Amino acid sequence: MTSTTTRIQVCDHPLVQNLLTKIRDYQTPSGEFRRLASEMSHYLVYEAMRDLSTRPAGVETPVGPATGVVLTDYVILAPVLRAGLILAEAAQQLFPNSRIYHIGLRRDEATLQAISYYAKLPEALPSESNVYVLDPMLATGGSAVAAISLFNELGVKSIHLVSFVAAPEGIKKVQAKFPHVMITTGAIDDHLNEHGYIVPGLGDAGDRIFGT
Ligand code: PRP
Ligand code: URA
Repeated sequence: MTSTTTRIQVCDHPLVQNLLTKIRDYQTPSGEFRRLASEMSHYLVYEAMRDLSTRPAGVETPVGPATGVVLTDYVILAPVLRAGLILAEAAQQLFPNSRIYHIGLRRDEATLQAISYYAKLPEALPSESNVYVLDPMLATGGSAVAAISLFNELGVKSIHLVSFVAAPEGIKKVQAKFPHVMITTGAIDDHLNEHGYIVPGLGDAGDRIFGT
């Protein structure tokens, strides 16, 4: 089950919370971290995609006709490099026909500002686009706001943000600038420390996923 407040849903399913607890553990080595994070990504993306549109479609079973649906949305995955790649792999398995636009952002360690180093988006996107910005960590919110801005500027109405862990500071920043964006996360943590890390969080997501 998922608890939903205005535009944020915390996926409180026991399987997700069990995985999150394991990936928070500083003793979990990177290979295991990647496996668990990948599994958790499937559940979070599944939950975030709950409001995808469908249209009725008929299908023949071996026994007779049945009424089903087909997905109709134009799905765009926007992983924030590097850590967002783990969510993108899972999302692509769930939605193989999605388009992927990678967003290269890194946080300046001194100023905590998000610095863009890669973004290659088309000049226009279909109006029915459903964008999923994928980044395990929503800390100050600088990276999420920078990524969301790219799609907002292209006039995309339906934008979601999927994270493993979110800090209150980052949620506030995203919601103040983009109140229409739906956030799906595994947990809302306590606060940021003086280095901009989420407390308790899980450490540096990119380093733990890629073993750097
Ligand atoms: C991390 C994380 C987010 C960002 C969150 O990336 O994956 O993208 O920090 O912080 P913010 O909310 O304060 O902007 P990082 O810049 O460490 O890059 P990496 O994934 O390449 O390690
Ligand atoms: N980026 C991370 O990877 N972890 C944090 O706690 C904050 C930003």
